[in-house]
Amino acid sequence: MFETIEMAPADPILGLNEAFNLDKKANKVNLGVGVYKNEEGKTPILNSVKAAERINLEEEKTKSYLPIDGKPSYKKVVQKLVFGANSEIVNSGRAATIQAPGGTGGIKLAADFIKKFYPGTKVWISDPTWANHKKVFNSAGLETRTYPYYNPKTNGLDFDGMYKTLSEIPGNDLVLFHACCHNPTGVDISPEQWKKLASLSLKKSFIPFFDFAYQGFGNGLKEDAVGIRTFAEKVKSFLVSNSFSKNFGLYNERIGALSIVTPKQKEAAKVLSQLKICARTNYSNPPSHGSSIVTTILSTPDLRTVWEDEVKEMRDRINSYRNIFVENLKVQGCKKNFDFIKKQHGMFSYTGLTKDKVIELREKYSIYFVNSGRINLAGLNGNNIDYVCKAFTEVLND
Ligand code: LMR
Repeated sequence: MFETIEMAPADPILGLNEAFNLDKKANKVNLGVGVYKNEEGKTPILNSVKAAERINLEEEKTKSYLPIDGKPSYKKVVQKLVFGANSEIVNSGRAATIQAPGGTGGIKLAADFIKKFYPGTKVWISDPTWANHKKVFNSAGLETRTYPYYNPKTNGLDFDGMYKTLSEIPGNDLVLFHACCHNPTGVDISPEQWKKLASLSLKKSFIPFFDFAYQGFGNGLKEDAVGIRTFAEKVKSFLVSNSFSKNFGLYNERIGALSIVTPKQKEAAKVLSQLKICARTNYSNPPSHGSSIVTTILSTPDLRTVWEDEVKEMRDRINSYRNIFVENLKVQGCKKNFDFIKKQHGMFSYTGLTKDKVIELREKYSIYFVNSGRINLAGLNGNNIDYVCKAFTEVLND
């Protein structure tokens, strides 16, 4: 039965970790997978998370199943963080929120739901986008199309190209946006541009779907929700999949949520009942550890303050390396100008390096990053910055 099975290629992002771990060089550098690292190159557990775990350990009374959609207390804190504490969407109960195994799990639940009830829907994803988006939608049986996003000439957003394509797509198709900290480019949509896109969505009646994996890593927790909240003022139906992998550092707890916003509370109730079937037929019901950490932190004022400070610290460290990286490249004599990196947001930067250069840096210098040229800035630190910038310069000036 299994003789005909062929070896699958390694995952373009997570597969890099496997190659990195096998590399024996002492000065190897991992700028691949999107995981935050501190100045020591470690991914520590946040203090707020440790404190919440201690509280939860004391207070936990059972390991019985959670509700299929997660606990109401978790769903409430998620909605308030995503839509705003006093959001009309939260108060009117017209969002169907379900706990999900990470942001990816939320996207897959949405894709299964859309495939079941609107099977012909096409999903429009940005060009480029996170390497897994297309695969997740395709694996649910949905077709994807791309809209222009990144302009390699300006190293910025191709807003006109994006707007034009989205003006021409059929109504009721799904349009996937990165709410902030676009992965892989780090190029974000401005508040003014979000307003234009929200009006367009109303006019053309496409359904916006926000992938919200980096809340707090761009400009701030509230600031990074500007796209979602701008749409919320105008558009009655949209989807958000949010992740707590990055902003709580809960990567291996697989914790996130999917929220489907509907025009009316009674529609949300029906949508939720169907999402529960999507979850039940995939993994039955969710795990408790990550969601109880997030709930405890967000509903305990002192812990929440500690957490917000920790998010700021991560954000500031990453941003500081935008400058340090660009300036160090100049000091090394790199002929290519990387000033555009200073304008990007979030964990990633799209360097514009070709696949050949990426592979050369991996093979000759043991510097690992994604073939698209995306680097994780959080992988840079005082110990490796000179080495990385020197290597970039040697490869690029060659
Ligand atoms: C990334 O893009 O590196 C992260 O989102 C991790 C992943 O799952 O790919």
